[in-house]
Parts: sequence; C-alpha cells; structure tokens
Amino acid sequence: MKGESKSVYLETMGCQMNVLDSELVMGQLRAMGYAPTDDMTSANLVLFNTCSVRDHAEQKVLSRLGNLRKPKEERDDLVVGVIGCMAERDPDGIFSKMPHVDLVCGPSELNKIPALIEEVQDGRDRAVALSQSLSRKSTPVARALEYDSVEALDLARDPAPDENVLQSYIRVQRGCDKFCTFCVVPFTRGAERSRPASQIVDEAKMLADRGAKEITLLGQTVNSYIHQENGRAVPFADLLGRLNEVSGIERIRFVTSYPGDFTTDILEAMRDLPKVCEYLHLPVQSGSDPVLQRMRRQYSVSQYIELVDKARELVPGVELASDFIVGFCGETEEEHKASVALIGRCEFKSIFVFKYSERPATVADKRMADDIPDNVKRRRNQELLVAQEALATLANQQRIGQQVEVLVEGYSKAALKAQEAEQTRGEEVSWRRSDQLVGRTRSDQIVVFNGKAEHIGGFATVRIDAATALTLHGEIIVAIPGTPQSRRAPSRGASLPVLDSAS
Ligand code: SAH
Ligand code: F3S
Repeated sequence: MKGESKSVYLETMGCQMNVLDSELVMGQLRAMGYAPTDDMTSANLVLFNTCSVRDHAEQKVLSRLGNLRKPKEERDDLVVGVIGCMAERDPDGIFSKMPHVDLVCGPSELNKIPALIEEVQDGRDRAVALSQSLSRKSTPVARALEYDSVEALDLARDPAPDENVLQSYIRVQRGCDKFCTFCVVPFTRGAERSRPASQIVDEAKMLADRGAKEITLLGQTVNSYIHQENGRAVPFADLLGRLNEVSGIERIRFVTSYPGDFTTDILEAMRDLPKVCEYLHLPVQSGSDPVLQRMRRQYSVSQYIELVDKARELVPGVELASDFIVGFCGETEEEHKASVALIGRCEFKSIFVFKYSERPATVADKRMADDIPDNVKRRRNQELLVAQEALATLANQQRIGQQVEVLVEGYSKAALKAQEAEQTRGEEVSWRRSDQLVGRTRSDQIVVFNGKAEHIGGFATVRIDAATALTLHGEIIVAIPGTPQSRRAPSRGASLPVLDSAS
C-alpha cells in the first residue's frame, strides 16, 4: 500500500485513558501514512479502542464488529483490529465470535500497533500483542524492559500541527493494584507504575509550546503517584508543584483520585499552587460500610466524609464529583438508602451512577452472587440520579448573579447542531443558537453563553443568569480572546466523553 493514501477509522470507548491512548495510536498511524476518517465503511483500517469495565461496553464492540463481517468479505485490503482493555481481557472470545478480526492489542502494548498492522499486511492470519510480560508474575528485569518499550508510546508523543491541544491529557501512572472486587482494570491494565516526573514535566512543556493551557493528569488512582528519582521519592504533591512551574499551562487537573490514599499534602498543594484547579473526582462507590467492605475499597464511609470535609475546609471553592455502583452483590434496600443519604451529605457537583455488571475473573465474580435483579438496579440507579439532580439544581441556582471565569472550549453541542443545519439547509438559524459557546470553570462547572469564534481558546468572565443541575447559562462580561493556535479546531472539550450512566 506504500505511496497510496490510506485511511483509518478509530473509535474510542470508555475512559479518558482510552481517549489519550487513541490520540497516541493515531500519532503512530499518521507516521505510517494513515489519514483519519469518520467513515467506517470506506476506511482501510478499522480499530476499536475498547472498554471492559461493564458488559454493555463489550457488547457494543461486538455489534460494531459484526457490522464489518460483510465489508471484510468484500475487501481484501481492509484490516480490522480490537485494541485496549477488551483485547487484553478476552482475545480468544473476540476471535471465536468474530473470526474476521485481524489484530488484537492490549492497552500496555499499543506501541506495537505499526508492527502488528504490517504483520497482517504481510499475510499473517492474526497478529496479537498482549501484556503477559507486564503481568505481576514476570521478573523485575523483564518488566523493566517491557515498561521502557511501552513508555516509548508516550515519549514519542508529537501532536499534528492541526491538532487541538488546548486541553490535553497526560498519563502519570499506568495500571492499578487495588483489586476492588468488582473491577476488571487491574487485570486489563496490569500493575500500578508511575512515570518519571521529569518525563511528565517535559511532556507538559512540549504541550504548552503547542498551545495547551489546561492539562489533566491521568491515573487510575492518580493521588497514589510516587516515583523514585535519584534515590528520592517524588510524591504526587511534588509532581503538582513541578508542573505548576510550566509556563503557558494555566490550569492543572487530575483524575481519578482514590479516597483511601488521599493525603493532606495534596489538599495543601491544591490550596497553595495557583494553577491546580479546585476540583476532585473522588469515587466513593457506596454509602454503606458493609458494601464498601464487600467491594474491598479500603476506607469507611466516615473516613470518606472526613476527607470531603477536610477538602472543603482546606481548598476554598472546591467542587467534588463521585462514582456510585448500584445493585452490587447483596446490596440491601437499607444499604442502598445509605448511598442516597451520602449524596445529601456530600453535595457533589455531579455523580456517575453505574448498575453493577459482573466482570469475569474478578473476586466478586468468583465468590459473590450477582443477585440484585436488573429492574431493582435500574430503580436504584434512578433514585440516586434524582437525589443528585435535586441538590445540584438547588446549588447551581444559588450561583445566579455570580461571575465566573471560564476557559472557552468551543461551540456548544446545540451550536454545532445548529451550524450543521444552517449548512445543510443553507438557511440561517434566526435565534443565533449557532453562536453558543461552552466553557468550564476551574471547579469543572460547565457554562454555556453566547460569544464569538475569537473567544474560543481564551478565558472569559461570565455572569450567570440561569442554571440547571449540570449546566450554568450566562453572558460574557469580559473576554481575553484565544490565540489563533488555540482556536485551530473544534475543541475536544466540547465533546469530552461522558461515562454512560445508563449502561
Ligand atoms: N479508578 C478508575 C476506575 C475505573 S472504572 C477511574 O475512575 O479512573 C470507572 C468507574 O466504573 C468506577 O469508579 C466504578 O464506579 C465503575 N465500575 C467499575 N467496575 C464496575 C462494574 N463491574 N460494574 C459497574 N460499574 C463499575
Ligand atoms: Fe478499579 Fe478499584 Fe483500581 S475501581 S481501577 S480496582 S481503584
């Protein structure tokens, strides 16, 4: 195929880590001469970057793959691959259900994608890279070698000139060692490893040079970041301190924090470092101690509440988000009500609620019964969302009249739709919804307001005049326009993946 134009359709499911992985894979593919396309049916290469956290996400991938059966029969040059967590978790299942899949690659092996594609093009039936060698059982030397190779993916990061890097993710940690009994991540992403602080800082500088203003540090338990440097440990608070010095970066966020390991020095860093935003994603999973014990979460409800109170005391204006699982094994009505009560106690900005989904190989799968009927899970899911919505609406309405500073991310979803309608019908939308912009406050509140293209990528002060549970609406008071560099493309921020709470 060398010399011809080649296209790739890459679809990403799941968490922010997958979004970053896809960005890095796309960088490798671009270097191989692939151009991205939105049209799955005409692409030469189709990749699904998959999520295994809930069964629903895996079923979606299987159904997409099913749709490729015919095109695959009709076109010799089409390469179909499954990458990410599902590839790692169940390669045999993928090949047996979907024999037309050509390549399978786990999330810790993504640097091997170019080689895998070439293997397939050279006639190999199936190309596979899984991270057996990164497993907890491998020798330290083997692990170190493999780790160097997987690090190469992040180290080679080189955003394309037309890529919008205004808000960028940076990986600071891989894997997870917590083994919560419901969770598949420790099996798919392997052991917890922190990246060297110097590499993370260099990556932030490179992104700042290309126009990044906000960085979000990614890790499964990001606050437990720790890396040995010249014989001395660099804990997470120190990493934040170093990143705060990177000029050009205005905002620093991090997700996801594990409540059990959250030390006060991180709250102090949030208070003292001007660029570190007042926002914490602190998944609690349940408001009941017996459920937390069955989940093996390693903290109690009262310890969680203590942490929330301390965060509010030390970090003025901090907003909190959380995750809940409903219908976990044996969850009684009383235990469920404890989650509703915790929502009332903590006043979260937003929550993600998930119906428990049994995952193969986890402790819950092996030793507990998934005994809560789906209709009960659904009702409990709804009850948590209703409790949250009432509180968040009330809290947001109290912001009416306040002025907030936002980083302007791009056009709102409604504006993009209206613009599309204008283009296809050739008519103007009279109510100017096509000028609606979206931005976020430091504490991660979404703010929608009317503005102009030149505001995108800059900061604006907005006066709030209406509010719902998830969105503030307002009017621009002052704006510092973005640079041409930061306005380059529709921002990713406007379409940040939201975990599917209905799954
Ligand atoms: N620390 C990670 C957790 C990854 S999974 C992070 O947030 O980055 C994200 C969320 O999915 C978890 O917080 C949990 O609420 C939910 N989840 C994980 N496993 C689940 C399962 N088996 N069923 C339902 N929800 C699950
Ligand atoms: Fe999963 Fe628990 Fe780690 S939710 S990612 S095992 S902290």
